Amino acid sequence: MLKCIRPLHWEDIVLNQDLFREAASFIRISYKELHRQEQETENRIQEVMEEIRLTGTYSHTYEELEHGAKMAWRNSNRCIGRLFWDSLTVFDRRDLATEVEIRDALFQHINFATNEGKIRPAISVFRQKNSENEVRIWNHQLIRYAGYETECGILGDPHSLDFTRKCEEMGWRGEGTRFDVLPLLIQIDGNTPKLYEMEKELVLEVPLRHPEYKWFAEMDLKWYAVPFISDMRLEIGGIEYTAAPFNGWYMGTEIGARNLADEFRYHLLPLIADQMGLNRNKNSSLWKDRALVELNASVLHSFNEDKVTIVDHHTAASQFRVFEEKEKAASRDVTGDWTWLIPPISPAATHIFHNSYENGIVKPNYFYQERPY
Ligand code: ARG
Repeated sequence: MLKCIRPLHWEDIVLNQDLFREAASFIRISYKELHRQEQETENRIQEVMEEIRLTGTYSHTYEELEHGAKMAWRNSNRCIGRLFWDSLTVFDRRDLATEVEIRDALFQHINFATNEGKIRPAISVFRQKNSENEVRIWNHQLIRYAGYETECGILGDPHSLDFTRKCEEMGWRGEGTRFDVLPLLIQIDGNTPKLYEMEKELVLEVPLRHPEYKWFAEMDLKWYAVPFISDMRLEIGGIEYTAAPFNGWYMGTEIGARNLADEFRYHLLPLIADQMGLNRNKNSSLWKDRALVELNASVLHSFNEDKVTIVDHHTAASQFRVFEEKEKAASRDVTGDWTWLIPPISPAATHIFHNSYENGIVKPNYFYQERPY
């Protein structure tokens, strides 16, 4: 597909060197993985080179986009869930032009991925970045709880303080609970972002209870079913997708050992320890550890009982081991970030703890990008 033709400057030629290289390397590797003929691969590289020469950029075919997004997951050093990289569903939304269209595509993505609890990993890819323009979703995750600064401390998720303030500046008002779902903020090409309330029926949540402790449910805790990371940039063959929200399913510890437990998040360990009757006056009572285990047991129990997909960290680690074996069989090196791959509880009970990983960056991949606010 050819874009409008513009005159070439020497700056373009220098800049395009990198793009040529990245594009050719991506086409070679992905076409090989997809068992394409060598001639087809070389033809496609020629075609891409010509498109870059004429327009300064190029566009992926659907198959390139699909496989590139899967490779990017496979190369995500911090992700323990990579065994399932090839099962990613890729929605090609590059043709969407308006904020409302993007919102509706996001709603469709949420609905498809949630699937009444039988969670399906998916990504929606919106228009690629060019020298002047980009699409951005300002939310960190499509579904996330608000955080408010109040006279009696922080209400809700402290992680969302800045974003919540931004939404309020734009006229949004939450109900004022600990679990208010934030609205979507969608920005096209440097325009003021548009704000849309989240569709309530689309948000599946799991109320937390405990298999033995009856008092647990009375704490009125819950978490949303599906994590959709929406602020990362997908890079494939030198092309940048600045809006490409993706989801998997949760590993229990993300909720039970971090979101609800970190002192700078919901900070619930003291409350749970008190309910359990533990002695918080001495560290050696291991009150934090005991509270952590029961909070995590509650997360896994509640998701399982509600038939919402979740994985415990022991199973996730075994799956990661299978991933490592499969990659070895395919003659690919597994890169990894050990500090993220080990689970936050009982890390030494998994094989990952006793291994080491090369934390090198392989592309395609997902990258952090500067916050737009
Ligand atoms: N850790 C993040 C959270 O707790 C979610 C990151 C992505 N997690 C996943 N299982 N795909 O919300």
